[in-house]
Amino acid sequence: MPDASSTLGSSRISSLCLVPCALCLDPRTLSRFWSYLYFMPSTLITNIKRLVNTRLESPLLRGKLLSDLPFIEDAFLIIEDGHIAEYGSMVNIKHPTSNFKLSFDASNKFVLPAWCDSHTHLVFAGSREGEFVDKIKGLTYADIAAKGGGILNSSKKLNETSEDELFNQAWKRLEEVSRLGTGAIEIKSGYGLTVEGELKMLRVIKKLQQRSSLKIRSTFLGAHTYPAEYKENHQGYIDLLVREMLPVIAKEKLADYIDVFCENGFFSPAETETICNAGLQYGLKPKIHANQLSASGGTQVGVKLGAVSVDHLETMDEDAIHTLAHSSTIGTLLPTAAFFLRMPFQPARKLIDNGCAIALATDYNPGSSPSGNMNLVVSMACIGMKMLPEEAINAATINGAHAMEYGNELGTITMGKKANLIFTKPIPSLSYYPYAFGTNLIDKVMINGEII
Ligand code: NIG
Ligand code: FE
Repeated sequence: MPDASSTLGSSRISSLCLVPCALCLDPRTLSRFWSYLYFMPSTLITNIKRLVNTRLESPLLRGKLLSDLPFIEDAFLIIEDGHIAEYGSMVNIKHPTSNFKLSFDASNKFVLPAWCDSHTHLVFAGSREGEFVDKIKGLTYADIAAKGGGILNSSKKLNETSEDELFNQAWKRLEEVSRLGTGAIEIKSGYGLTVEGELKMLRVIKKLQQRSSLKIRSTFLGAHTYPAEYKENHQGYIDLLVREMLPVIAKEKLADYIDVFCENGFFSPAETETICNAGLQYGLKPKIHANQLSASGGTQVGVKLGAVSVDHLETMDEDAIHTLAHSSTIGTLLPTAAFFLRMPFQPARKLIDNGCAIALATDYNPGSSPSGNMNLVVSMACIGMKMLPEEAINAATINGAHAMEYGNELGTITMGKKANLIFTKPIPSLSYYPYAFGTNLIDKVMINGEII
């Protein structure tokens, strides 16, 4: 529905004192005051065909609210210091174009918040297209694992790759996904499976955080699978995770979250609980791989632990849906992983209709989703999971932001949020965007107010 508050933001200056005083203004407000007074706001975008997901507040969306995608037609947007400073309808624009360092016309273009991809394994070494071909020829997951494939294949490659090389490969992927409209991303470890390998991955993620203009969250997924030498000694590996890895991760501030692949043949709900509780002691909240291959209790244990999200959810039973719907944990759906593994898509309709809070993410990884393209995820959510375009866009923006605890900074067009934006090519309607799947409909991407 159209956003009724189409002039919001324009009263901000008048709410400031004429003579700013250090006692009543924080440094950021103070710098913005002088910027307004002497330089004027920096970027003006005019004649936007439709400014999408404009909100005064941006709570986590669940159930019916997920299909409400507010917008302003024929809109303007002002960016200052990389943040959204003002926006509204063109009829209410107050500032002449000459006041701005930069101004451009967005006629015929839709402007959306950049995608918030809350589940990826973007740091990995090499690729696994050999397994892809093996699967086409009929080999099963077990056959491939017996040949040394799967997560252990990536782990071997990762442990043979230097930190610099790993960084270079990850950097290229990060640049690629940012050009595809991703402005914030979560990245997991989990292909090291040794103390050195896991720390190497997390240090690469830290370097990406330091060097990239994208917002990045880091997740420790040492519990991705049991390394071969610990196959019969689960407690030994759990001890390694808890006693050797976690203290260093906490000391070097290498992770924001802890993840476990809770699945039959991987980590049991009880093991998941032990590992996550150890992480929680260091301040790492859980984000769990749950209900991918079976209804093995991952969702229930995630909710019990107060997980920020439980992710995958291809295989949900009634109890898992009910438990998730009555919790504050987000269900993150990864449709490209289901597609790539030729599995049934996640039951998005059932989850939404039961009141669950749903986010969408890519799961970018070499084994089950060798694509970090959020545009494709949004299309696939509509095509394969029957999500409405509005639901899919909300799930890939504001709910994705919440799944990284960035809900106050990203994911909507809201005063003070980061100016991370997607400018579409001319399109006839918003629904055209997921409908024309596979076509690149992005004209430009802006991160922190800068076109990349
Ligand atoms: O999220 N399910 C667990 N982990 C990854 C796949 C890992 C791999 O095959 O490399 C996932 O799909
Ligand atoms: Fe994953």
